[in-house]
Amino acid sequence: MVSTAETFHTLLPIVEQRLSAYLKSAEAREGRVIQLKSPEVLDEELGIGDWIARGGMDAKALDSWLKQYLEATTKLHHPGYIGHQVAVPMVGSSLADCINGFTNNGMAVHEMGPPAVAVELAVLRWMCAHVGYGKAGGGVLTHGGSLANLTALLAARAVIAPDAWEQGVPQDLVLVTADTAHYSIARSAGILGLGSSSIRTTPTKPDGTIDISALNATLEACAAEGKRVMAVVASACNTATGCIDDLQAMGEICANRALWFHVDGAHGASALLSEKHRGALRGIEMADSVVWDAHKMLHTSALCAAVLLKRETDFAKAFHQDVSYLGNPGFAKGPDLFRRAVECTKVPIGLKLFLNLAIHGEVAMTKRIDDLYARAKQAAALFREHAQIDVPLEPQTNILLFRVGDSSISQRELRSRLMERGNFYITAADHCGVDYLRLTVMNPATSVEDLQRLMDELVELADGMASS
Ligand SMILES: Cc1ncc(COP(=O)(O)O)c(C=O)c1O
Repeated sequence: MVSTAETFHTLLPIVEQRLSAYLKSAEAREGRVIQLKSPEVLDEELGIGDWIARGGMDAKALDSWLKQYLEATTKLHHPGYIGHQVAVPMVGSSLADCINGFTNNGMAVHEMGPPAVAVELAVLRWMCAHVGYGKAGGGVLTHGGSLANLTALLAARAVIAPDAWEQGVPQDLVLVTADTAHYSIARSAGILGLGSSSIRTTPTKPDGTIDISALNATLEACAAEGKRVMAVVASACNTATGCIDDLQAMGEICANRALWFHVDGAHGASALLSEKHRGALRGIEMADSVVWDAHKMLHTSALCAAVLLKRETDFAKAFHQDVSYLGNPGFAKGPDLFRRAVECTKVPIGLKLFLNLAIHGEVAMTKRIDDLYARAKQAAALFREHAQIDVPLEPQTNILLFRVGDSSISQRELRSRLMERGNFYITAADHCGVDYLRLTVMNPATSVEDLQRLMDELVELADGMASS
């Protein structure tokens, strides 16, 4: 029998060479950022179904299959990738994926991965310190910001309705947030049994952030309805616009009314590292819970999301279960993370953030955040100079909304035409009922020249649409 070590030794160089070639070519702007083929076409081209049925992929076959696979991927390392809020991973976190893929230390219980648990707890302490939590703070890493929001709001539910786990959810609970909050907030309300109709949206300002002058009135209206507010949710930042709620003002209002204050900092909390940008997050330390995705702006591969609680003990209130086949008090020497997380088996995701910090360092990671934010500002300035481009908001992060051409130009259609060419990947979003193109600068190699080329291509396409 060929051992695992021998198989690895044979196959790793193939993967390493193919990935190196892929990275080199993407970074050199070769080829397309994206080519959108249907699953059926790709199944045929890559022989996916055949390989599943036949097996037997040897080293040579892996080599040519991987070449084709990588050619077909959406290339985040290509500087034309300015799309969704998914990190261009630093090498440290990519190596962690490889290590985790072998060690496979499931993280439900401490004994399944003592060093991985130590790493997770250490990166969580580092994050809690950046938030400004004291010694009582603590957290857990989850597979994504959506699950992190759900976990944090479960803790909020446990505090206001301690019996909900056993008895079901009281009918008088509501969640207060803006309609600009990420959809995972309303989805959490659905999953947690409050129902998405329990969301009470509070008015927003033209930039989509919560209008503080109206928040007290929204909270009074909830009380007048006979409802109890389970949590007030701030966005730092809003997904569509990149704008940040006034955390200080919201935190003070919540403190005065003894309400759970949740900050969804999935995208923006990473700016806590930055001297230039942390001011926009002032007040975050007042939050009872914070969600912070490392796989967005701490440059790790997906997924690595933190749920941070001001009082670690609130996790125990959230999950009321003991599990005989996991627990072993006589042997256990450390925390069993299944007590804090929705997941049972969990990837040792802390290693991704740890290796980014250990290999690249906090200074380089912070510089990357600053550079990405700066590039969005440069894009805004560049686009504003063009008579055919409207930039409605000054970017507060690395997200920028804009429209090209007059109101007859469908921005969604324009985006489709751009993507068909494949030189750039950008997104689109609705803001205040208007469709905009949207870019998120995630790749530090995206230069001002790239943004100029993007602008030229969009204007050319919009002119073509106007004249047809
Ligand atoms: C503000 C905010 N919260 C939560 C999420 C969800 O995170 P994930 O995609 O990791 O589930 C996102 C994703 O874009 C987001 O922007």
